Amino acid sequence: MNRIAVVPGSFDPVTLGHLDVIERAARLWDEVHVVVVHNPDKSALLPIAQRVSLLEKSIEEAGITGNVIVASWSMGLLVDYCTDVGAHVLVKGIRSQVDVAYETPMAIVNRHLADVETVFLLPNPANAHVSSSLVRQVSALGGDVSPYVPPAVFELLSSR
Ligand code: PNS
Repeated sequence: MNRIAVVPGSFDPVTLGHLDVIERAARLWDEVHVVVVHNPDKSALLPIAQRVSLLEKSIEEAGITGNVIVASWSMGLLVDYCTDVGAHVLVKGIRSQVDVAYETPMAIVNRHLADVETVFLLPNPANAHVSSSLVRQVSALGGDVSPYVPPAVFELLSSR
């Protein structure tokens, strides 16, 4: 029943916090789908295809191999993707009470919609303060984001 898990997010860009959650999910489930979803509440830095390729490169460079698939989804509800691939679990990283408040209604709705459960993983404390929005802001203002992102993302942001 819980063989396949989906790790969804904007991943704009992928951070070391995301990679930590993906790596741990890959140890807990047989197959993990990392799914890039457009979040209309956030203004995007990178196009979806670039986020997918940065995820693929970063996952490979982190040595997370074998059971992780990167995809994107723009066809409607995230739970429809889950149903399509036979996943009954969504995995989210939770850094703070703010994340709990943001994620709880989505978790309840996704369970009502399609019986998809949400599993929350606590962060590695080293990454507890890291977010894509913080990375976007620090990078845009010329700060060093190398402690927060995988090398492929650092290279891209440094070249912009
Ligand atoms: O990284 P983010 O921006 O916090 O990710 C949020 C995301 C993309 C996972 C969330 O917005 C989402 O699940 N979107 C899918 C749309 C959907 O299915 N909505 C209805 C149920 S919540």
